[in-house]
Amino acid sequence: MKTPDIDSGHIPVLLSDFSSLLPQVSGIWIDGTFGFGGYSKRLLGSGASKVIAIDLDPDVLSRAYNLEQNWPNRFKILTGNFCKMGQLVTKLGVTRVSGVIMDLGLSSMQVDAPIRGFSLKNDGPLDMRMSKKGPSAKDFINQANESLISDVLLKYGEERHAKTIAKSIVTARKKNHIESTYQLVSLIEKVLGFNNRYKIHPATRTFQAIRIAINNELENLIEGLVSANKLLGIGGLFSVITFHSLEDRIVKRFFNLQTQNDNSINEIKCIGGNRRPLFKKINKRPIIANREELDMNPRARSAKLRIVKKVVDQFVSIEPNNLGLPSVSSSLRDFQCE
Ligand SMILES: C[S@@+](CC[C@H](N)C(=O)[O-])C[C@H]1O[C@@H](n2cnc3c(N)ncnc32)[C@H](O)[C@@H]1O
Repeated sequence: MKTPDIDSGHIPVLLSDFSSLLPQVSGIWIDGTFGFGGYSKRLLGSGASKVIAIDLDPDVLSRAYNLEQNWPNRFKILTGNFCKMGQLVTKLGVTRVSGVIMDLGLSSMQVDAPIRGFSLKNDGPLDMRMSKKGPSAKDFINQANESLISDVLLKYGEERHAKTIAKSIVTARKKNHIESTYQLVSLIEKVLGFNNRYKIHPATRTFQAIRIAINNELENLIEGLVSANKLLGIGGLFSVITFHSLEDRIVKRFFNLQTQNDNSINEIKCIGGNRRPLFKKINKRPIIANREELDMNPRARSAKLRIVKKVVDQFVSIEPNNLGLPSVSSSLRDFQCE
């Protein structure tokens, strides 16, 4: 069994598959989700002339220190949102790149730290902000109206008990503010019932939905895909790793749209008329973790890796709704962090 690529913290997912498909890389790469730096390190070691890494979470800066020391001219870390990757790298004088990797979701450091409030397994404040700025999950749970909470749980968590959970949250918070992860977990256990035979904990979907909602994950993803697409030159490689069905649908449709002719796509409309495919798929089917990786890192179980290569230097606008973006009331904006 292979040892992880890093000493501790986050084990990068599907990294050996990524390296088998792209053993050698070149030019400037953007790592849009630095995390613990597993992908940045691999890119630097396999030929990238420079890696510009981005992460929303300011906590990663200290983890990037060694890379900055080892490769002062080849590695740069930026705190920011990948949806603005174009603006961020332009400030460094970069307008074109050879590759982009986006390994979506949360790092193990984020999930495992009770203070960040992402995990229903650890008691901590209801926070869930990747950027640590702006409204938190606590603000959303205690201030959003019942129909918004229900809408978020249904659309972002695919939670069929969304209405019941939203109603019980609004009733409970009249007595006491819901401040901690365990308070929310025990409320949901009480409403939906829970025993050890459950395959997934009944609060899992609620936690996923709130996290996606307050971090505006799906809209950021679409803007990130568009931004990366504009930065890539011909031959540019675009790799995305997804972890749940909502983000995977968006990435799949985005890549399908860009790799087929308009005429063959009925369900997705794009502005601009007929055109040649802009990307070629490097892997026809998404890559998933093998048994060896799953034994070492159970968090890889829902990961899917897709890689495409840009073959035509053209940009086609996309209607976000046609990528499968669920439509949620605009009042959610008041509860979204940066
Ligand atoms: C799964 S981890 C990445 C792990 C990393 N590839 C590694 O090998 O260590 C995802 C990271 O992406 C960051 N992230 C999520 N959404 C982001 C966004 N919109 N912009 C920038 N970073 C984001 C999270 O803060 C987290 O650190």
